[in-house]
This record gives sequence, structure tokens and C-alpha cells, in this order.
Amino acid sequence: MNPISYNEYARETLTSLSQGAFLTTKKDDQVNTMTIGWGAVSYMWGKPVFTVMVRESRYTKHMIDAAGEFTVSLPEGALADAVKLCGAKSGRDMDKIAEAGLTLLPPAKLSTPFIGGCSLHFECKTLYKQEMDLALLDEATRDRWYANGDVHTIYYGEIIGAYRA
Ligand SMILES: Cc1cc2nc3c(=O)[nH]c(=O)nc-3n(C[C@H](O)[C@H](O)[C@H](O)COP(=O)(O)O)c2cc1C
Repeated sequence: MNPISYNEYARETLTSLSQGAFLTTKKDDQVNTMTIGWGAVSYMWGKPVFTVMVRESRYTKHMIDAAGEFTVSLPEGALADAVKLCGAKSGRDMDKIAEAGLTLLPPAKLSTPFIGGCSLHFECKTLYKQEMDLALLDEATRDRWYANGDVHTIYYGEIIGAYRA
């Protein structure tokens, strides 16, 4: 794992994210990962920030709220079966890491591990989070994505470390 600057592989990060990445959380001894497709790498409050969006219904919501930190691991097109499984099954019902045959890489500066076999990794500490207020959202977007009311909470994680495998 070679340390990189947070925006050194921004293009690869955003391309890979749109194809499915792993958002990993740890609470007590339990590690869970879920597939994400939306997010951003940015600079806010004088810090590098990775933003992820987690719907209320996700087990990850409970994990990330408790932990106050998370990692994002980007497979850059690899691990397609695991991306699929972790985007369809819940950590509420199973150990997805084992089920998907994923390996964990030890944490670097925080407590949450990374997903092995990925090429880019970010470790993040929640700086700010906000549940979406659907009344403030563009109507067409609200109708398209939130017909069932399962809103996202947006997590702004300070990027504490970024790595290329
Ligand atoms: C390609 C892809 C991208 C996804 N992106 C997100 C996302 O950005 N936010 C979200 O809340 N769910 C997203 N999901 C759905 C979750 O991964 C899925 O509901 C998962 O089973 C939740 O796992 P959990 O209950 O263990 O947290 C995505 C699913 C796929 C297949």
C-alpha cells in the first residue's frame, strides 16, 4: 500500500466509483461492506473530503453512525461478483466478507480495514453528516430516486489516508 495524495488518482477514483466500490464499516468486532456507486472526492473546510450517500434502510447506516469512520476501496473493474453480492445482500443477514470471498487489509491510521484486491483505498473520519430533506430536492430527482421515502444521509469523511495497492 503506497500512500498517495487524495486527488492524485481522481479520474480513476471517480470512474471506478461509478462502476461500484466498497464502503466498509466496523463496529465492535463486526466488519461489513456495501457497494456504492455515488460519491465525491472534494476539498471542504480546508480538508480533503470523501462524500458517500447511504440510505436509511442500509445496515451500513447503523454501522457508520456508530463508528464515525469508514473506508472506501475501489476495485477498478475487478471483483465484479463481490460488487454484485455486496450491493444486493445485507450485513444484517450474513457475513458478506466471507460470503463474497473477500479479504481484509489491516487499517492504516484508523480502525476500519480495507478490501483486498482493490487498487485504490481511502480511510475517512466523518466530519459532517446530513440526512436529505426531500422538500428541498428538485422534484424530478425526488420522484426518480425517493418514491419510497428511503432517503440518503450524506457523509462527509475527512480523508485521513489515501493509498494505491
Ligand atoms: C452498483 C451499486 C451501487 C450502489 N450504490 C449505493 C449507494 O451509493 N448508496 C446506497 O445507500 N446504496 C447503494 N447501493 C445498494 C447497497 O449496496 C445495498 O442495498 C446493500 O445490500 C446494502 O448493504 P448493507 O445492508 O449491508 O448496508 C448500490 C448497489 C449497487 C449494486
